[in-house]
Amino acid sequence: MSIPKLSNEKYLEVVAAYEKKTPRSRKLNEESRKCIVPMGAPGYTIWHRPYPIFIDKAQGSHLYDVDGNEYIDLFNDQGISYLGHKSPPISKAIVKTLNRYGSHLALCEELATKWAEKIKKHYPSIKLIKIVNSGTEATELACQIARAFTARTKIIKFAGHHHGWNGVLSYDALAAGSGTFFTKGIPENHWDNLVTLPPNNIGIVEITLQENKNQVAAVVLEPLGAASGGTRLIEGFQKQLRELTTKYNVLLIFDEVATCFKVALGGAQQVLGITPDLTCLGKTAGGGLPIGAVGGREDVMSVVGALDPRAEHFGPLFPMGSFCAHPLAMAAGIAFIDELEKGDYIANSIASAAGLAGGINDIAARLKMNIQAHSTYSFLHFGLTGTFDMSQALEVLEFDLMIRLALLLGNPGAVALPGLGCISGIMTKKDIQKSLAAFEKAFSIYK
Ligand SMILES: Cc1ncc(COP(=O)(O)O)c(C=O)c1O
Repeated sequence: MSIPKLSNEKYLEVVAAYEKKTPRSRKLNEESRKCIVPMGAPGYTIWHRPYPIFIDKAQGSHLYDVDGNEYIDLFNDQGISYLGHKSPPISKAIVKTLNRYGSHLALCEELATKWAEKIKKHYPSIKLIKIVNSGTEATELACQIARAFTARTKIIKFAGHHHGWNGVLSYDALAAGSGTFFTKGIPENHWDNLVTLPPNNIGIVEITLQENKNQVAAVVLEPLGAASGGTRLIEGFQKQLRELTTKYNVLLIFDEVATCFKVALGGAQQVLGITPDLTCLGKTAGGGLPIGAVGGREDVMSVVGALDPRAEHFGPLFPMGSFCAHPLAMAAGIAFIDELEKGDYIANSIASAAGLAGGINDIAARLKMNIQAHSTYSFLHFGLTGTFDMSQALEVLEFDLMIRLALLLGNPGAVALPGLGCISGIMTKKDIQKSLAAFEKAFSIYK
């Protein structure tokens, strides 16, 4: 399948239109580049070429840049602002907590317990929880817990599944076949205890478990597939994994950092009907403030801070963390879950993502573009049809970045990650129509 390309002339035209629309963003970017690494300050703006828009204000499903341009937010900080920007109950809870405790405590207060109770209510697989500050920390910690509990060293993950940028799982993440592409700062032998398998092949998982008998601590996966369903898992694969891990006495870790609360209140495990041994949470769970958490079986989670010198397999696992269970994140998380319990947000985000996917496919068909979209609950995936190997990765990326840039040119424009939208629960029909108009404009650039 050929990858659409813009002529140099057309490329310069698009860039010129963007520069004309965003002169203040350009200037702010130039200043930031003098002191901030090329990746940019937030984690994801590297995807916005030739430079990112700088935001002036955010409200609900809309963003406004420093040049006064309006955008529909299909990114929602990776779905973290699932109730839209400046959700009143969340803002109120943050201000109330700030007025009570100040900006941080690092001492016990009741909010962490209340937040954990909420999590336990919706995730019956979780009996005990350790709260950290990011998804990256959560997945790293889950592996440490699994290793400490089982006294085994190996972890199995799946190609392309992303679990943050820690030194335990970031191998072959983001794109299947990427190997060490994104992890040059980590010595190769660091990955000796990580086994990366192709997804959807349960036979290979079983062979690997047999060949590494009593060496594998856990199997970890994004439960809906890489990029929250961008590359889908075949039906039944997760259930087969549950059966195999039980058979071989290996822990099953669901990385629900991205999927928690955005698929169902009880995450992917609720819709799949599977009980993992450990679950990683993050992103939305803190109502928009930094959060990560690992929860799961009581016996497994009990290794965290276990100080019993007579314990058979493990010494104490002692993940500290100055900002763990930050009261503002706890308060925001509780307010977020409270609000989610009351409203139709999840159903709305799922319907909105499906509506966008259908609309994008209609436009692509009309314009004869080989682009296809699908939704996985509240996640919207779109990209070139066909499969591409790593040798074409940069070409695919270039196409993807151009679509991202062209989406910004709409009026209003639309903000999305490469190939991924995280659709909030507050999108209106009008927002969807306007977003589709931005897609139509973006695709037309290739005509
Ligand atoms: C499935 C999954 N796990 C872990 C992470 C890492 O989370 P964080 O960015 O909070 O470190 C991400 C982030 O994109 C993710 O999508």
